[in-house]
Amino acid sequence: MTQPLPGDVPLSLYVHVPWCLRKCPYCDFNSHELKGALPEQAYVEALLADVEADAPRIAGRSVQSIFIGGGTPSLFSGRSIACLLEGVAARLPLAEDVEITLEANPGAVDAKHFAAYREAGVNRLSIGVQSFSGEKLQALGRVHDAEQARAAFRVAREAGYGNINLDLMYGLPEQSPQQALEDLRQALDLEPEHLSWYQLTIEPNTLFHHQPPTVPDDDRLMEMQEAGLALLAGQGYAQYEVSAHAREGFRCRHNLNYWRFGDYLAAGAGAHGKLTEKEGVRRYWRARQPNAYMNSAGRAVAGERLLAADDLRLEFMMNALRLNDGVPMALFAERTGLAEAALSEPLARARDQGLLDDEAGWLRPTLRGRHFLNDLLGVFLDG
Ligand SMILES: C[S@@+](CC[C@H](N)C(=O)[O-])C[C@H]1O[C@@H](n2cnc3c(N)ncnc32)[C@H](O)[C@@H]1O
Ligand code: SF4
Repeated sequence: MTQPLPGDVPLSLYVHVPWCLRKCPYCDFNSHELKGALPEQAYVEALLADVEADAPRIAGRSVQSIFIGGGTPSLFSGRSIACLLEGVAARLPLAEDVEITLEANPGAVDAKHFAAYREAGVNRLSIGVQSFSGEKLQALGRVHDAEQARAAFRVAREAGYGNINLDLMYGLPEQSPQQALEDLRQALDLEPEHLSWYQLTIEPNTLFHHQPPTVPDDDRLMEMQEAGLALLAGQGYAQYEVSAHAREGFRCRHNLNYWRFGDYLAAGAGAHGKLTEKEGVRRYWRARQPNAYMNSAGRAVAGERLLAADDLRLEFMMNALRLNDGVPMALFAERTGLAEAALSEPLARARDQGLLDDEAGWLRPTLRGRHFLNDLLGVFLDG
């Protein structure tokens, strides 16, 4: 470290729920098909044990966002989510305007649950739609159809949510650019505040990796991206990150904190956290398997490490350069404790290659840098 790290880095809390009704063939998240009854109460107790164990590490800093992700958190009852959020509020200071997101699968939606989550403090819902085509939803092994996705959105609005994200994917098996755009149009018809539009990636350790479907070639993907981004922008959804698009005032505060290399506590099976401490930036993680996790919750983390200078530099860039606006240059030293001089050589190279904007005082990818993000990051890896 070349300078002391500040003690007031923005802080979030990530809570992981590791169960789903069925495992989707493309998904490499830590999610497991639910077999038998959901151990809601025991799991909430384990989550709160994690939060309690972490509380002394944050020395009065307040939590500005909570993300209850999965897996499928909407499998949980309103009562369990209320118990979780009350327990968190009793153990951690929460910002007055804390953003609290919960991920929902349209195949696991209950109107009473949605209303109760809101009463419990959830003020943002993220619904995993993926596609509005019955054929594509089947190819993706989803447990719901398009009508259930639309119904989930209606139920969320009726329950009073004014901040809803829809997850959609493109580049699906045998998908044409027209079909990808039709999915986007149907999502836009619902008028969500936020849209996450992910390109399907074939991840190792998934069924799709072992039995690859035929996905669109690069030309078709490019066609989808260009037309999709134009459609989104035309409807008032500004792209602010590789996959994130939002109406004015509805950027996801929780994810922005990751991309700006903020801190986050981790609760739940396989959850990863990051904390800025006197000794440096520490990452830590919890046991992945739900049962092993429940047996160990709150007592110890499964692993942790202080980031070395090279890791810090690369990880900062891997996050910050996903943002269309980038970040102020000064944030690099503030979040990593490294001198800006550590960047001067790779910055010059990235600018020479047209991958990075040359405005002084900012780290911002050019359009070319956004298209070739791996090349841009490679510059910081070599340097
Ligand atoms: C962890 S999932 C949680 C949402 C919820 N479980 C659901 O699927 O309805 C978050 C989002 O990541 C995206 N996703 C998951 N696997 C992906 C992959 N292989 N490629 C691209 N996006 C993916 C999906 O859009 C999904 O909604
Ligand atoms: S429902 Fe979501 S988290 Fe669960 S397996 Fe499917 S994509 Fe993954």
